[in-house]
Amino acid sequence: MKVENVTLEKKYHDAVEHWRGHHFKDYETLMDNWEKFFPKDEKFCLCAKMEIGTPDTIHIGEQKGEKKKLEPDQLTEDQARHLLAIIKAQASTEFGSIQQHAGTIDRAHDDQDRAWVMRVMAEELRHGYQMLHLLLSKDWSHVSGGVTGPQMVEEILSMTTGNHVLDAFNLDYDSFMDNITFAAFIDRVGKYQLTMQKVCAYKPMADSMPPMLREEAFHLAAGVIPLRRFAERAAKGDPLANLELVQQSINKWFARGLEMFGDERGGGKNIQYGFKDLMNREAVDQYTEECRKMVRDINTRFVRARFPDYTPDKIEAVIDELEKSRGSHQGLKFEDILHLPDPRFFRRKGECAFQMIGVNGETFTEVEEYLRYLAKHLNSGYIASRDLRLYADALRQVVKGEITVEQGVKAMPKLKRLGGSCPCSRSVRWVMEESNGTETTVMTRPA
Ligand SMILES: [Fe+2]
Ligand SMILES: [Fe+2]
Repeated sequence: MKVENVTLEKKYHDAVEHWRGHHFKDYETLMDNWEKFFPKDEKFCLCAKMEIGTPDTIHIGEQKGEKKKLEPDQLTEDQARHLLAIIKAQASTEFGSIQQHAGTIDRAHDDQDRAWVMRVMAEELRHGYQMLHLLLSKDWSHVSGGVTGPQMVEEILSMTTGNHVLDAFNLDYDSFMDNITFAAFIDRVGKYQLTMQKVCAYKPMADSMPPMLREEAFHLAAGVIPLRRFAERAAKGDPLANLELVQQSINKWFARGLEMFGDERGGGKNIQYGFKDLMNREAVDQYTEECRKMVRDINTRFVRARFPDYTPDKIEAVIDELEKSRGSHQGLKFEDILHLPDPRFFRRKGECAFQMIGVNGETFTEVEEYLRYLAKHLNSGYIASRDLRLYADALRQVVKGEITVEQGVKAMPKLKRLGGSCPCSRSVRWVMEESNGTETTVMTRPA
């Protein structure tokens, strides 16, 4: 593969570096120790990477067979508007995940886990940089509603946890368990999005995907490998490791990951416009299956560490039996291993928004009972969070019929920062978006 490295105009490059100074304090440490932790890997470069030699013709949709578009104004106006929203959302997630990781990285279990998360953060910074390159290197003014490239950059760099475009990037991490579970589950959604976008009819977007995907593979490993090690420690009786902690974190993130694909019933426009090659439901189903395999892999390692004499076949049989009988095997109970929650569990968007479904698919009719159930299946830091309280408020209103499900979906708060891009000198206004599109200030705090 051949890749062209591109640097942003100095003032924008400097803006990203400035942002990094605020939100990613470990960057210098990572650069100074890169060779120690990643001796075989090329040193990190803060630049946009464009793959050379990708297909020139449109793969799918209404314009299938035509030449891929090189400029935004070669796209139809609606196509360009839709793609601009995708690029901005993507940029927001990249920067957002750095802010989330930063909150708990100091609680990493060991230096290697910490170094791996630092590398993930650096690569997310590069992915965000890549999306800024797409916004700034071409003219989007005909579809941006008068917002200029520099203003879009400022808007993206001024987002903080709470006001990113997608919900998964608005949740604080409660412990280092969230750093690794997020990498294993939410970066996996990223992998799907990037893979689908490899076909993109807008060539600069398509060319951005292969280098990002190669890095995404590392992000998944930065989640899965520490999770496997943690499971092995738990199996060997380490009192500081247990799968309940992992399960609670999975329960927190899996639903948000599913929602990142968009409503299960949608996705037609992406195909029609040649931007992605899967409908939302197809992608969600494939993702769910992959998560199921990952959970099975961790369970396999857990059981192997618990019963080191067992053959691989015996281990598979034990897990199958536990899942079928929900009983126990030699003191190992069904509850002791990991389970992928039912995809309808704890949903607040999409087809199953605000339904009251348990991790095993059980249904609830009484809202307080469901909330008590959630509190049992989520970690205590998260139960005490603003996010969960607002979800509970919305759920109560939906169940009472005071608001519709659609209004409930919109009732989740969005934090919006007012003013410029530098978080050191501006204040934050917390706003609630009403169902009619207007905003109400919830509270103001100086940053
Ligand atoms: Fe990324
Ligand atoms: Fe990632």
